[in-house]
Amino acid sequence: MSSGQRISPDPAAKRSGGVKAGARMTLSALAEKKALGEPIVMVTAYDYPSARVAEAAGVDVVLVGDSAAMTVLGYPSTVPVSVEEMLMLAAATRRGLATPLLVGDLPFGTYEVSDEQAVTTAQRFVKEAGCDAVKLERGGASADRARAIVAAGIPVMGHVGLTPQTATALGGYRSQGRTADRALEVAEDALALEDAGCFAIVFEAVPSALTDAIMPRLEVPVIGIGAGASTDGQVLVFHDLLGIYDGHAARFVKRYGNVGEAMVKGVAAYAADVRERRYPEPEHGYTMAPDEVARMRELLGYSSEEQQYVDFDLMG
Ligand code: KIV
Repeated sequence: MSSGQRISPDPAAKRSGGVKAGARMTLSALAEKKALGEPIVMVTAYDYPSARVAEAAGVDVVLVGDSAAMTVLGYPSTVPVSVEEMLMLAAATRRGLATPLLVGDLPFGTYEVSDEQAVTTAQRFVKEAGCDAVKLERGGASADRARAIVAAGIPVMGHVGLTPQTATALGGYRSQGRTADRALEVAEDALALEDAGCFAIVFEAVPSALTDAIMPRLEVPVIGIGAGASTDGQVLVFHDLLGIYDGHAARFVKRYGNVGEAMVKGVAAYAADVRERRYPEPEHGYTMAPDEVARMRELLGYSSEEQQYVDFDLMG
């Protein structure tokens, strides 16, 4: 691996809202951003390089989302990812971050059974991966789990609307809350999570009219993904926004780059250079003093004739 290559901060990156440049994002700074009406920027990251990019871009919150199950680990959904896999990704992300708040997604089946299970899993994200907070999906019993984790001293972010861990029960990966009754359920989930002590709530794939109606009732920051423009902030999946993931992209995804194509182009150019013997070139190699080369060849048992050829070759 080459060394010394650093991703430098984007000069346009800024994180106002009372947050000093280079200072770590806090829960109170997020609340202040909401109060000031300054949009909160959240993005997912899953490893050291994506964390370095998020850091350099000056985002406020980084989520090690269980979307990693699909974008990074190649599973067909978020359901199979394990705590160990998520912890490994979260720890790598932590090593690449200095300033954004780091939130780890609790995987499906690791927090729902009891408060004890929820607190134990959440503690692992804080102790073993260095997360500042955790995220869990749904209201109902999940709101009780959130309350228990908060009581254990760990900040919790909620997630309502389309909750991918239980997408099958929701009728698939489709927008939620499109009837008045279902919208009310989503709103109730959000209110229950706020009441449980969540410091922020993600709204995923819900009609803007629902978001607009519930925003005035919520005191904590709401981060939207396919939830319209009235939320306090937005989140997108790193691989979606940069065009790295080649699976299905939801309607709410906006592409800000075509990094996947650039990566294929780069590797294909390298492959062609190797096959055509254009790489490596002399500047990619290491040199040895001619007398050391001569002595090495002598030690390796080359004849003096061959040795002369070497000397000649080196002089040439
Ligand atoms: O796992 C994830 O990436 C998420 C975001 C879409 C909010 O939960």
